Amino acid sequence: MSPSPERAITGPAITGAAIVAGVCGAPIRHSMSPLIHNAWIAAAGLDAVYAPFAPTEDRFETFIDGLRGGAVRGLNVTIPFKERALALADTASDLARMAGAANLLIFESDGTIQADNTDGPGLLGAIEAQASGYDVAAAPVVVLGAGGAARGAIAALLLAGAPQVSLINRTLARAHELVETFGSRVVAVPEEDLADHLTQAGLVINATSLGLGGGAGPGAQLDLTPLEAVVVDMVYKPLRTEFLRRAAAAGRRTVDGLEMLLRQAVPSFEAFYGQAPPAEVDVRALALRHLGEA
Ligand code: ATR
Repeated sequence: MSPSPERAITGPAITGAAIVAGVCGAPIRHSMSPLIHNAWIAAAGLDAVYAPFAPTEDRFETFIDGLRGGAVRGLNVTIPFKERALALADTASDLARMAGAANLLIFESDGTIQADNTDGPGLLGAIEAQASGYDVAAAPVVVLGAGGAARGAIAALLLAGAPQVSLINRTLARAHELVETFGSRVVAVPEEDLADHLTQAGLVINATSLGLGGGAGPGAQLDLTPLEAVVVDMVYKPLRTEFLRRAAAAGRRTVDGLEMLLRQAVPSFEAFYGQAPPAEVDVRALALRHLGEA
């Protein structure tokens, strides 16, 4: 029997009192955030929506300014707007300031905007989930890449007590810029010295875009790391990148980029909707199906 027309158009209850939030980027079409947040909204039975927004690049400031006062409760912000989002905010968390980028904006009723960065906590949460017991403060970290993703990771690692972050980047000058931003616990390492740093590393993180879409990842010799080292890849398409496959083949524990993505969404959901996401929803399984991995 086919559903009644009335039943067919009855989705989740969205009334005039719904809390509205979303994600803003350009392009936004491939973002998995709407899928994740709306699954949580539906399971929690909230009167709420989470929508994608793709302002043209030159209109980002106009778009955000128009939301002052709380027409929208908050936005996640993604590529290429994270730095501009921070610049527009009236107040920012230590993490957002240190990272120089915001992935979360909250619009207060007094017209001000608060900025935060949940990418770093997402990284730490993913390590806790997939490399249980690993202590970020116990050993030096090697970070490959010096873009926005690396910045967010380094800010969180330093706040969590990482003793040293060795930074390797194709463009060494960009790594030096981060040393200036973060200070003496971050060192810029030329490619030829990478092996020395890997032998001391407790954690190795790919924060470059290498490996995205199935290509070769960074060439770092992961078997030089101590056996108990943990290897993280921020790339999640494919889920098992070449970099993570090499790490696993060498017997190192691995942490995938999808777990980071899912973890960064949790504090955003809490900030928008005032409650934790419902634990019973398996958003990882949902995301894996979406990525064609399950
Ligand atoms: P994101 O915000 O995702 O970090 P980004 O700021 O464009 O994006 O940074 C991309 C990172 O991947 C950079 O560290 C970049 O190195 P450069 O600073 O030298 O550009 C790195 N990257 C991208 N393509 C690369 C390649 N083919 N080889 C090595 N590194 C690469």
